[in-house]
Amino acid sequence: MKHEINTDPVLQIDSLVKSFGNNRVLNGFNLKLYEGENLVVMGKSGSGKSVMIKCLVGLMHADSGTITIRGKDITMMRPQELDILRTEIGFLFQGSALYDSMTVRENLEFPLRRHKERLRIRESNINLVKEALENVGLSEAIDLMPAELSGGMKRRVALARALILKPKIILYDEPTTGLDPITAKEIIELMRTIQKKYSTSSLIITHDVDCARVISNKIILLINGVNYIEGTYKQLVQSTDPLVKAFFK
Ligand SMILES: Nc1ncnc2c1ncn2[C@@H]1O[C@H](COP(=O)(O)OP(=O)(O)OP(=O)(O)O)[C@@H](O)[C@H]1O
Ligand SMILES: [Mg+2]
Repeated sequence: MKHEINTDPVLQIDSLVKSFGNNRVLNGFNLKLYEGENLVVMGKSGSGKSVMIKCLVGLMHADSGTITIRGKDITMMRPQELDILRTEIGFLFQGSALYDSMTVRENLEFPLRRHKERLRIRESNINLVKEALENVGLSEAIDLMPAELSGGMKRRVALARALILKPKIILYDEPTTGLDPITAKEIIELMRTIQKKYSTSSLIITHDVDCARVISNKIILLINGVNYIEGTYKQLVQSTDPLVKAFFK
C-alpha cells in the first residue's frame, strides 16, 4: 500500500503481551493504524479486544510490548504526559458508559472541563456541546438524563462525547453491539460521516460483520492472542481457513 511507504503509522502496537494469572490473553499482538484509515479488529468474545484497547489508552498496563501513538511510546510515559495524549484520542467505550447522574449536556462537558485550559479551547462549552450533539443528530436531547434515552441514543451521546475534543484518532469498542440492525446502520453511517468531516483515523473493535464490511480498509482477526490473519474484507471472506470462515458465515 502506498501510504505504508510514505508515512509512519499514527498508532502502532508491537508484541503486546498481557496475562491475568495463568490466562495469557494477548500473546504478541501487533497493529499499525495509518492516517485516515479505518482499521477493524475482530475476534470472538473474550479474545482480548477490550483488553487491547484498554492497554492502548493506558487504562491497563501490558506485561510487555510497546505502544506508540504519534511516534511516542506510551508505555514509558508519566501519567501527566499520558493525560495530554488522551485528549488527542477519542474513545467510545463498550456499552456507552455515560455518567448516569449527569444530563447529556453535563456528560459532554465533562471532558471539556477536564482539558479545556490546557487545550486553550476558545469556543464556549455550550457551543462545543451543541456542535457535538448536532453531529450525531441529537440536539433536542441536551437536557435529558441517560435513563431517558434509548440504547441507540445513548450510543450517539457517547459518540458525541468521544468527539468533543475533536480527536485525530478514534477508538471504537463495539460501536454497534446491542443495537437493532437499523440503529446499528445509522451508527456506522455516523462514524463514516464523522471520519470524512474531521479526517480522523479509526480503530474499530467489533464482531459485527456488517460493520466490518462497510467501514474497514483493513481487518485484523485476533485469535489466541495474536494476529491470526490480516487483510481487506474481500480477502478475508474468501479465506478457506475454517477459523476465518467462522467469522464471515
Ligand atoms: N480486569 C481483569 N481481570 C482479570 N481478567 C480479565 C480482566 N479484564 C479482562 N480479563 C479477561 O481477559 C479476557 C479478554 O477479555 P476482553 O474483555 O478483552 O474480551 P473481548 O474480546 O473484549 O470480549 P467481548 O467481545 O465479549 O467484549 C477474558 O478472558 C477476560 O476474562
Ligand atoms: Mg470487549
